[in-house]
Amino acid sequence: MVVVKGPSAFVSTAIDAALQAGKLLQQMLPESRASKDVATKRNPSDFVTRGDRMAEALIARMLRERFPDHGILAEEGTSHAGAEYRWIIDPIDGTTNFVHGVPLFAVSIALEQRQELVAGVIYHPSMDELFGAERGRGAFLRHGEHQEPLKVSGIGEVTQSMVATGQPHDVEETGRNVAQIERLAHTASVRITGSAALHLAYVAAGRLEAFWEPGLSSWDYAAGALLVMEAGGRISDMQGRTFHLDCHDVLATNGRIHDEMVRLLA
Ligand code: IPD
Ligand code: CA
Ligand code: CA
Repeated sequence: MVVVKGPSAFVSTAIDAALQAGKLLQQMLPESRASKDVATKRNPSDFVTRGDRMAEALIARMLRERFPDHGILAEEGTSHAGAEYRWIIDPIDGTTNFVHGVPLFAVSIALEQRQELVAGVIYHPSMDELFGAERGRGAFLRHGEHQEPLKVSGIGEVTQSMVATGQPHDVEETGRNVAQIERLAHTASVRITGSAALHLAYVAAGRLEAFWEPGLSSWDYAAGALLVMEAGGRISDMQGRTFHLDCHDVLATNGRIHDEMVRLLA
């Protein structure tokens, strides 16, 4: 008899937290810019809102209640030390879209065990799409009652690919990126939706063939990296070197166009 196990306590807790935070953010989305209490961080285009802070507090509280000895690293400043496990949280990936009322943003929650990713969840509230992965157990997409396994696309030609990138908040990084977009624009369709987490989830889901961006932080890509790996894709730094959680320049692909992307981005 085959026993099909449900998600681990780690993944189901991350799912609960992402769904609750996502619902809260979806309710806040139509509010005016002023009521979102928008401030800027390291530079004028790097926003933080009441939604970021409220979602982060909600997620951190749920994780701390269920796993009091786990560490936490979250973008808006929540930080707890832990022995073996650490949660890496981006409460809103796509805050610029959120500020402008554009429904393209996601909640991203990952769990690492001694530097190795073991669970990841990305929730896109506007589409009610929940992407999840567990190390060694594959990746999935849940929409309402329906759940399906995720697999990267089989496209092997960059010319037939749709790829995505970001516009880093740091202007120097953006400068690097613009040159890369120019090189790619001749060979592939390039998209910038404003959420690194969603781009990675879409690579895992076979909707995009690749995503790259310089200057990211671990909370932008931790959950998405596990999704891509578990869906059969490949992730590395932009030079094709081994991926780790201190990377800043990230390239994720369906595997088949990875080497060609490394060459084109160089
Ligand atoms: C940003 C988004 C965006 C990417 C930026 C990130 P934030 O995250 O992922 O797509 O281009 O580099 O910082 O600030 O919305 O959490
Ligand atoms: Ca982010
Ligand atoms: Ca964020």
